[in-house]
Amino acid sequence: MTAPSPAGVAIDAPAKLNLGLEIVGRRADGYHDLVTIFQAISIQDRLRLSPDPEPGLRLTCDDPSLADDNLARAALVALRRRTGTTAGATLRIEKGIPVAAGLGGASSDAAAALLAGRRLWGSPLPDDALADLAAEIGSDAPFFLRGGTALASGRGERLTPLPPLGGTWFVVVSPRIVLPRKTAALYAALRSDDFSNGDAVRRQAARLRAGSGLDPDLLGNAFRRPLAGLRPDLASLPETMRAAGAGAIGLSGAGPSHYAVVGDPEEADRLATRLAARLGAAVAVAVAAPWPDPPRPRPA
Ligand code: C5P
Repeated sequence: MTAPSPAGVAIDAPAKLNLGLEIVGRRADGYHDLVTIFQAISIQDRLRLSPDPEPGLRLTCDDPSLADDNLARAALVALRRRTGTTAGATLRIEKGIPVAAGLGGASSDAAAALLAGRRLWGSPLPDDALADLAAEIGSDAPFFLRGGTALASGRGERLTPLPPLGGTWFVVVSPRIVLPRKTAALYAALRSDDFSNGDAVRRQAARLRAGSGLDPDLLGNAFRRPLAGLRPDLASLPETMRAAGAGAIGLSGAGPSHYAVVGDPEEADRLATRLAARLGAAVAVAVAAPWPDPPRPRPA
């Protein structure tokens, strides 16, 4: 039983990167089985859930495009239905994570909202019930309840924690483009030769367990070909990143965010500066570190 926190709850919601992503099969329920490593990173959204004398749920967001269609709202509605809570509340979201960029922002907000709601309303809902609610909201939402580094399979909801990733920084490059129904469209564009057996990602996971660091050759992502098919203008981005000095490059989720893996924070800053100068306003460039801590609700 978690004690209620009547003055309101604040929580930070981290973005994620996929350190390799393989699609291993198509399922009868319309989803796909995948094998991936999720890595939470220091790019974050900030949420605040406050009690309200008005019954019902309100949401405000500094990005007005997210004020209505929002997975965090869906998560709180599901939590309130599951626990029978009717108390009034307002959820405020401050976005720091680029939207619809393959960085998991919407799912992370949903998971953080569940943790905040459970705390604010003093619900005894156990972690596995919260994970079931999260999985109904989005395939990668359960990961964000714990964050850190994890090997994921199934739809993305079967999780095995991995040790924290040290000595690694990321330069995250997010093209400012809108791909309508991106995730569903990219899954639908997969061809049989985009499928693989999950071995590369599992080998990467074994390296991380052994403390051997990331192998750049095991960062492949099944969405690379379909994304380039849908947006040929993105196909040259890895080359541009390489020309700016990036070594190991990965694609996060179904894109369009790409990242460079860098072993030194100052070199990461320099690479980010060069990339921002080369790519201009068409992309957001940010330096991020692995974020090992689970999201924790705190008094607001
Ligand atoms: O679970 P989520 O809402 O993120 O999925 C969005 C869409 O992406 C699904 O409706 C499905 O078409 C596709 N998807 C999939 N296999 C997954 C995850 C998502 O086919 N593992």
